[in-house]
Amino acid sequence: MIPSVLPTYNRAPLTFVKGEGAWLTEADGRRFLDLGAGIAVNALGHAHPALVNALTEQAHALWHVSNLYHIPQQQALADKLVEHTFADTVFFTNSGTESCELAVKMARKYFYDKDQPERVEIITFDGSFHGRSSAGIAAAGSEKMTKGFGPLLPGFVHVTFGDLDGVTNAITDKTAAIMIEPVQGEGGIRPVPDAELKALRQICDDNGLLLILDEVQCGVGRTGKLFAHEWAGITPDIMMVAKGIGGGFPLGAVLATEDAASGMTAGTHGSTYGGNPLGCAVGCAVIDQVATPAFLEGVNRKAGMLRQKLEGLIAEHPEVFEEVRGTGLMLGLKCKALNIDMVNAGYDNEVITVPAADNVIRLLPPLTLTEDDIAQAVIRLDKAAAQVEESMASAQDTPE
Ligand SMILES: Cc1ncc(COP(=O)(O)O)c(C=O)c1O
Repeated sequence: MIPSVLPTYNRAPLTFVKGEGAWLTEADGRRFLDLGAGIAVNALGHAHPALVNALTEQAHALWHVSNLYHIPQQQALADKLVEHTFADTVFFTNSGTESCELAVKMARKYFYDKDQPERVEIITFDGSFHGRSSAGIAAAGSEKMTKGFGPLLPGFVHVTFGDLDGVTNAITDKTAAIMIEPVQGEGGIRPVPDAELKALRQICDDNGLLLILDEVQCGVGRTGKLFAHEWAGITPDIMMVAKGIGGGFPLGAVLATEDAASGMTAGTHGSTYGGNPLGCAVGCAVIDQVATPAFLEGVNRKAGMLRQKLEGLIAEHPEVFEEVRGTGLMLGLKCKALNIDMVNAGYDNEVITVPAADNVIRLLPPLTLTEDDIAQAVIRLDKAAAQVEESMASAQDTPE
């Protein structure tokens, strides 16, 4: 019989009932160090007092009004994002997937309104992930995500990750935009080198294309800048945001320049919940915390410490790990052992990591992680790796 919850997830046998900072408490009382943060969602950890206050204060005042009316919390969050980024304007969504939908619509409408309705194609990259909607899966294009869900939304052209010539060759008079994650998350923590992001910006400028950055996973302080593209010294035309911006409250956003957003006039797009008072009150509290030099400096300092310790861990367990990659507190351990074995051994040793493609385990801890948490992370990952080593050794000893 089908379970009452549609069985689309492979869930670990864990049930968390409470969270504080970087720690989660399981129903049986065990405390787990959370290096996954809900896949880069709990940017400020669990139950951060500023977020709890923002949410409860707003809950006492007003939960929801329609976008038929003015929403001061939404205005405040949009103003903060415009102040701190390249963007001139912001639309609020509830998730990364919805941000992808709007990014695609915005790019197409831009060219439609410029009397170039044939320009509908968006160049994307293998290994990318942009959500699970019809546009999101067509954008990513992988068989794993698209099989059985056809006919797919047309208009996406897939290029090999890192292949700039491939991008240039893929441009035709139908091309509207290039869409890319500055650091691929689901794809296995694959950062796009700064020089390549710069080159993509240049290609867009040379060909009159829009550059859409998907910062759903790598944005909101995760790489040590408020948004990852800042490291490359470029700006996009459109940017997709979600996850960290709500700190655990479902919230997303599309940020855009005035020009890129010019087609999105009244009535062209909307969302019942997007930008509601609860979500935006929390979003304001998140941005107030994260968008400060001191906070971002802290992320960079802790990222440096964690990365250095992970290098040591790899040296200790060369059979289990191959390399550490990523940037800021968006790190991946490329495994030699099966990544899922390492994730499971982590559960046994009360540390949470997240698997990704390319046999990687992701470390996406709360950005508020402490130095003690980092020390604990390494102790627990070390034990988990030793456990994986033992099972690899005993598997080798076992005759076929
Ligand atoms: C880069 C990227 N884009 C889009 C999404 C989709 O976001 P959501 O699951 O909030 O719809 C994700 C989710 O993991 C993501 O990592």
